[in-house]
Amino acid sequence: MGINEFKIFRTQAYIDGVFVDASSKQTFQVINPADGTVVADVTDCGTEEVLGAINAANNAFPLWSGRSAIDRSIILKRWNELVLEHLDTLAQILTIEQGKPLSESRGEIKYGASFIEWFAEESKRVYGDTIPGHLSDKRILVIKQPIGVVAAITPWNFPIAMITRKVAPAIAVGCTVVIKPSELTPLSALALAELANQAGIPKGVFNVITTENADQTGKIFSNSPIVKKISFTGSTEVGKHLIRQSAATVKKVSMELGGNAPFIVFDDADIENASTAALLAKFRNAGQTCVCANRIFVQDSVFDSFSKLFVQKVKQLEVGNGLDKNVDIGPLINQEAVEFIDDLVRDALQKGADEILRGGLDSDRTKTLFYKPIVLTDVSVSSKIFGSEIFGPVAPIFRFKTEDEVINLANDTSYGLASYFFGKDHARIWRVAEGLDYGMIGINTGMISTTVAPFGGIKESGIGKEGSKYGIDEFVVVKYLCWSL
Ligand code: SIN
Repeated sequence: MGINEFKIFRTQAYIDGVFVDASSKQTFQVINPADGTVVADVTDCGTEEVLGAINAANNAFPLWSGRSAIDRSIILKRWNELVLEHLDTLAQILTIEQGKPLSESRGEIKYGASFIEWFAEESKRVYGDTIPGHLSDKRILVIKQPIGVVAAITPWNFPIAMITRKVAPAIAVGCTVVIKPSELTPLSALALAELANQAGIPKGVFNVITTENADQTGKIFSNSPIVKKISFTGSTEVGKHLIRQSAATVKKVSMELGGNAPFIVFDDADIENASTAALLAKFRNAGQTCVCANRIFVQDSVFDSFSKLFVQKVKQLEVGNGLDKNVDIGPLINQEAVEFIDDLVRDALQKGADEILRGGLDSDRTKTLFYKPIVLTDVSVSSKIFGSEIFGPVAPIFRFKTEDEVINLANDTSYGLASYFFGKDHARIWRVAEGLDYGMIGINTGMISTTVAPFGGIKESGIGKEGSKYGIDEFVVVKYLCWSL
């Protein structure tokens, strides 16, 4: 069955409960990164549609925020069920537009649905507070209310989960949302909208603006006095731009930005576990996640044994079309990604790195985006790769001698999203966990993403938390009532 025969396949923007064309009738193409074919022509919204969606969200806000938390929870739970019922179809759409292997797409959809389910529950627990009054005739209460219309901008690397991680808590608490998915992967977002509609999410509560004009849309969101909150996942550069732009209307912002995760292997680590975890942390989604292991630091005495084991495992990874069986690594998202990564590898090699596993583009498939994993050892810290978010299947391994040295190296970056380390000494585990300047730390594990924990970075990796009980705080205002008897 072709993708356009799927019942939930949509190509028009979703505004005020209806799938619509742009008034300009403009469309843009969505390309399958595995073979370069055009998957769909999707509505290219302009200013009129973006403003229309913001107004629709604004009109829907009083009714939606006025409904009971239990009512909202029931509707969200129905959405979650529908997403899971359509797991296979959604996974195909996701793989075709994004490239990741079907097994990873299925994993992402379950991960994405889990945020809907989680926040359907959390909506019932948006508790306030009572505070002993400062004077004998005063009673003080704290209440939390939905912030209002939320604008969300989401990336191509997780076309489902990054939407539900923002939209579910916002809707759960009574906000209404306008979301702009990446122009590279709008089809997953539109399929989610179709399921939201079927679940009974009222018109205007969830709107999807598909557009190639990210700049203009971001500007409208930032300047709109109706939009009270911007939630963004993407590059640090764009995040800073959105923060600057939305300063004019003093918006609340959440920013999930870039990372440069250290993955540290100490001499007392279980090398077998560490190498398997490094594989997972490095090559998930072909290395295209912001929590991917970016710099692998290995202590001198276990450097050779770790590197050997790691390379053996990397060699087993199958690169190919995500729709094919047994594929571990799909294509990269586009040509710019390939060029960026190639440049980092060239620079590291020029600065003395050893390419212990050769990879890169297949010489007989130069027109494609399939990139075979590369492992580099003895990489110099002066290489560009040390300071850049790689976003691809290249694993640079750095050698270190002491704990202090590696903590300094790990923290020597403006990013502070995810970090990982392996070792057994309990005292050292505490010291290192406290010493790493990161919002998330995996200790003897390479997989930290889960609905139940607060996802988010510090330093230039972002502001705010997503998922967990903390995720809801991003979409409420805290009001205090001082009551005089
Ligand atoms: C991201 O790369 O933006 C998110 C990854 C995750 O949730 O694990």
